[in-house]
Amino acid sequence: MRILIVGGGGREHALAWKAARSPRVSEVFCAPGNPGMATIGTCLGIAADDIDRLLAAAREHQIDLTIVGPEQPLVMGIVDRFQAAGLRIWGPSRAAAELEGSKVAMKEFMRRHNIPTAQCKIFDDPALAHAYIDEFGLPAVIKCDGLAAGKGVTVATTAEAAHGAIDDIMVRRIFGAEAGRRLVIEEVLRGEEISIFALCDGHNAILLDTAQDHKQVGEGDTGPNTGGMGAFTPARDLLSQRHEDDIVRRILVPTMAGLVQEGRPYVGLLYLGIMLTDHGPKTLEYNVRFGDPECQPLMLRLESDLIDLCEACIDGRLDQQDITWSNDTAICVTLASQGYPGSYPKGRPITGLDQPLFGEQAVVFHAGTRLDGDQLVTDGGRVLSVCARGSDLDSARNQVYAACDLIHFEGVHFRRDIGRRHG
Ligand code: AMP
Ligand code: GLY
Repeated sequence: MRILIVGGGGREHALAWKAARSPRVSEVFCAPGNPGMATIGTCLGIAADDIDRLLAAAREHQIDLTIVGPEQPLVMGIVDRFQAAGLRIWGPSRAAAELEGSKVAMKEFMRRHNIPTAQCKIFDDPALAHAYIDEFGLPAVIKCDGLAAGKGVTVATTAEAAHGAIDDIMVRRIFGAEAGRRLVIEEVLRGEEISIFALCDGHNAILLDTAQDHKQVGEGDTGPNTGGMGAFTPARDLLSQRHEDDIVRRILVPTMAGLVQEGRPYVGLLYLGIMLTDHGPKTLEYNVRFGDPECQPLMLRLESDLIDLCEACIDGRLDQQDITWSNDTAICVTLASQGYPGSYPKGRPITGLDQPLFGEQAVVFHAGTRLDGDQLVTDGGRVLSVCARGSDLDSARNQVYAACDLIHFEGVHFRRDIGRRHG
C-alpha cells in the first residue's frame, strides 16, 4: 500500500514511522513532512492545509490510504473532499471535526446530549462578556471559539487577565477575525486533568492505553503552558477502573451516540480532555486528532498494525479488531528552543543525531527542524521528540535522557522530570 501522512510535526513523524513498519506498506509519502520523515518516505512540499494540492498529489502518487495528523485540515473538511473524490482517508468528517473547530459548537453539542462539562455562557459581544465577568467574578475560563493553535484558553484569576483575554479574542482578534467572533466563558473545574484517546469507527470505539503529557515548561510543573514538554505511557495509576468506566459511560458513549444521531458519526481518533472532579469526570474539550507528544510514545508501544487499525475505523469494523501494546514503558522528551514557549530563534545547527544509540531503543522524531544545505537546523519551538522504551519507567527514563544528552543545539532546553509525578 501507498500511504500519505498529512502533517510535519513530531506526531506525524511517529505516525509515519509506525505506518512504515507495517508489512502492508510499500511506500510512504508525507505532506509537508520534515527532515526526519524524509528518512522514511518522500516528502511532498505541500502544506497540511492545502487540500486542493493534497488531493491532486494523492491521485498522482496513487495513494491507497491517507492518514491526517493535525486538526486544521480536518476542520477544513479534508476527509469529505477526499471521500468525494473516491479516495480512502482516515479522520473525522468536517461536521464531526467541529467538536474541536468551534468551542461554541462543542459546548452546545454537550448541552444537547447531557454530557458532563463546565457550566458556560456564550458571547458574541465583548461588552456583554466584560459585564458578565464584572458581575459573576473570578476565577473564570475564557475560550476563543475558533482554532487558536492551542493558545485560545485563559484560566483567569484576576480581572485584568479576564478582560485582557476577552479583548485579545474579540477586539484585537489575535486568533483571527472569524475565530474571535464568539467566545465561551465557563466555570473553573478543579481536579486532576487527564487525556483519553479512543479510536472510533462511527459506532464502536477502542480506548488506547493511558498516556500522560507534561504541559508546563518547567520541572515540577512550573512556568507557562507549552504544546507539551514530554509524555509517557502507560500512565495507569492516573485512571482507576471506576473512572474509566464512568468516562466511557457518561462521556464517550453519549458523544459517539450524539454524533450518530446528528448524522455525523465520528471516525478517527477522538481525544477527550477530562477533569476528574469531586462530582465525577467532566469534559474540558474534545480534540479530533492524536495528542502531540502523547502520540510519539504510544506509537513506540503499539504492537498492532496501524494500517489495520485505520482501515477498521474507516470500514466500521473496530468491533472485530484487537489492539495490543508492548509491556514496556515508553517516554518522550521534547527538546525545545531557547525562549520557548515565548519567542525563540530559528536556524540553530543541531548536532549529535548520528549516534549508534538511535535505532530501536531510542527514536528521535522531528518536530520543528529543517535542512539548511546539509545541516539540520532548528525551525520551531518544539524541535525534537526524543523517545525511548524500557522495561519500566526508570529504565525508559535512563534511556531517553542518555539520548537527550547526546543531542545539542545552542539554547536547547528540556525537562529532566518527564515520567515523574507531581502532587
Ligand atoms: P481546552 O483547550 O479547552 O482543553 O483548554 C486548555 C487547558 O485549559 C486545559 O487543558 C485545562 O488545563 C484548562 N482548562 C480548560 N477549561 C477549563 C476549566 N473549565 N476549568 C479548569 N481548567 C480548564
Ligand atoms: N498534548 C496535548 C495536545 O496535543 O493537545
